Amino acid sequence: MSEIILKLKTLHPIVIAIDGTSASGKSTNAKLVAKTLGYVYVDTGAMYRTLAWHCLLKQVDVNDAKAVAAACRKWKPELKCVEKDGLRAAWLSVDGYFPEKEIRMPETAAAVAHVAAVPAVRKWMKDTQRDCIKFGNLVMEGRDIGTNVFPETDYKFYLDASLAERSARRAADGVNENLAARDQRDSQRAVAPLMIALGAVVVNNSGQTPAETSGFIIGEIKKKMSAAR
Ligand code: DC
Repeated sequence: MSEIILKLKTLHPIVIAIDGTSASGKSTNAKLVAKTLGYVYVDTGAMYRTLAWHCLLKQVDVNDAKAVAAACRKWKPELKCVEKDGLRAAWLSVDGYFPEKEIRMPETAAAVAHVAAVPAVRKWMKDTQRDCIKFGNLVMEGRDIGTNVFPETDYKFYLDASLAERSARRAADGVNENLAARDQRDSQRAVAPLMIALGAVVVNNSGQTPAETSGFIIGEIKKKMSAAR
């Protein structure tokens, strides 16, 4: 019996949950971890951004929660697993199009926290993000992966860095945005706010290189995996 349970446990895909504040290095490190382990990378922020972009395109008022919920009920994006530069990643495609550039535009960045605060949107996103398991083992980054999307995973990380360093990182990417305001909206929303999941390893990566941070995360994952054997 215990052998069967062990087998079932090992057969179930592994989910590495990486949550944290805006510009705390989630994407960079999640991609490095996914590449190293050969897991599928899932950027859940990109999913919320895709819906925010879709709402702007369809002229839906993102401050009107009912209108956003209705747009979310209506849209029919496809969840796809695509390989690019040696990384397999799950993305939402809208009418056969990946709005990669559009979701990084300032208008989308300003709209996304409003869209992400709508309960019906969060339910749709959670279901879709859990569905990514069909692609195999995952490294999923976001704000509520360890607390809400995959609370059952044993592999939870919470990234943070000083506000000054995070603002400098965004500015280096050519994006000027009020990170403190966005963090506040993400942390104070009623549904699945940004918070440290129980059991998460907290990583403050101020002054660290991505190689250092991702190396630390991979080390922690390996320690947990050998402890689970
Ligand atoms: O990580 P990002 O900047 O691309 O995230 C975009 C927005 O989406 C951000 O304001 C928080 C929200 N988000 C969320 O609420 N839950 C997630 N799992 C991922 C992102």
